[in-house]
Amino acid sequence: MKKKLILDVDTGIDDAIGILLAVKSEELDLIGITTGCGNVSLEAATTNTCKVLDLINAPSSIPVVKGSAAPLKRQPHFEHKVHGTDGIGGALLDVISEREITPGDAASFIIEKIMESPGEVSVVCTGPLTNLAKSIQQQPAIVDHVKEVIYMGGAINGIGNVTPVAEFNTFADPEAASVVLEAGIPNLTQVGLDVTKHALLTEKHIETITEPALHDFLKQSTATYRKAFYEQNGIWACAMHDPLAIGVFIDSTLVKKTACSVAVETSSRFCDGMTVWDRQGKWGLPANVQVCMEVEAERFLSLLVDVLNRS
Ligand code: RIB
Ligand code: CA
Repeated sequence: MKKKLILDVDTGIDDAIGILLAVKSEELDLIGITTGCGNVSLEAATTNTCKVLDLINAPSSIPVVKGSAAPLKRQPHFEHKVHGTDGIGGALLDVISEREITPGDAASFIIEKIMESPGEVSVVCTGPLTNLAKSIQQQPAIVDHVKEVIYMGGAINGIGNVTPVAEFNTFADPEAASVVLEAGIPNLTQVGLDVTKHALLTEKHIETITEPALHDFLKQSTATYRKAFYEQNGIWACAMHDPLAIGVFIDSTLVKKTACSVAVETSSRFCDGMTVWDRQGKWGLPANVQVCMEVEAERFLSLLVDVLNRS
C-alpha cells in the first residue's frame, strides 16, 4: 500500500530535490504539493515547483496548490543568499512551465484531503509551517484525522542556521510552528538541523546520478549551495535538509527519535524561532513531538541516489 502524502514546500534548492525524491519514490502516493512563502516568495516557490515537476515529466495529475504569501504575523524573510535569486540556484532558468496550478488555497486543500480519507493522509512540511498552521486553525479536527505530520525544522540542541539559536523554517514563521506544536497532533516528528546537518550531498553522490538532465540539475542547482558550505565548513557538500524529511517518511528506521516536550519562542529579542526542549520536565507538560536525534546519513544518501536513479 503506497503511503499517501501532501508535500508542503517553499521551493528552494533542497525542497526541489525533496520533490524529486517524493515523485520518484514508489513507496509514496503524492496526492498534492502545496506551496508557500519561505526561502523565496510564494510565486517563485510555485514556479520552481512546477519547473522541477516538468524536469521529471511528473504526472500533470499531481495538484500544485498555492498557499500563504506571508507568515501568520510577520513579514517574509527570504533566503536568496543561499538559494539564489530564482530559488533553485539558477538552474532551469530557460524553462517556462505550462503546468496548471490547481484553484483554491493550500489550507483548504490540506483540510479537504485529510478529512475525505481519515487516518490515511500524512503531511510532510519542508518550509515554514504557515499553510499547515492555517489548516489547523480553520479545521482543528484534522489533528485527529491526519495520519502523520513530519516537518523539517528546528534545532533541538540549539544551534541555528539563520540566527545563533533558530533554524530557518521555525524562524521564518515561529507563530505557525507554535500552532503546529501546540495542536496535539498525535504522530508529529521534527526533522531538525541536529540530523539534517549530517545528510551531506557531495559531488561524488551527484556523479552517480545516471539520468543526464537530473544529474545536470543537481550539479547546477547545488553549486552555490555547496560552495557556501565549503566556505563555512571546508567541505564541498550541501545539507539535504528537506529530502531527509521525506526520507524519514519513506523509512523511519533511518533515524532515532526521542519523545520531547518542545515549545517555539515567539517573543524574544534574540531567540525567536528557537525550538526549546524541556529536557528536565520543568513545565510539567507531556511530550508533544518525536524529535530525530540520530541519523544513518550514508544510508539515507544511498536511498536518495537509488530513488533518483529509478526510471
Ligand atoms: O533550515 C533549512 C530549511 O530552511 C530548509 O527547508 C530550506 O529549504 C529552508 O527552507
Ligand atoms: Ca525548504
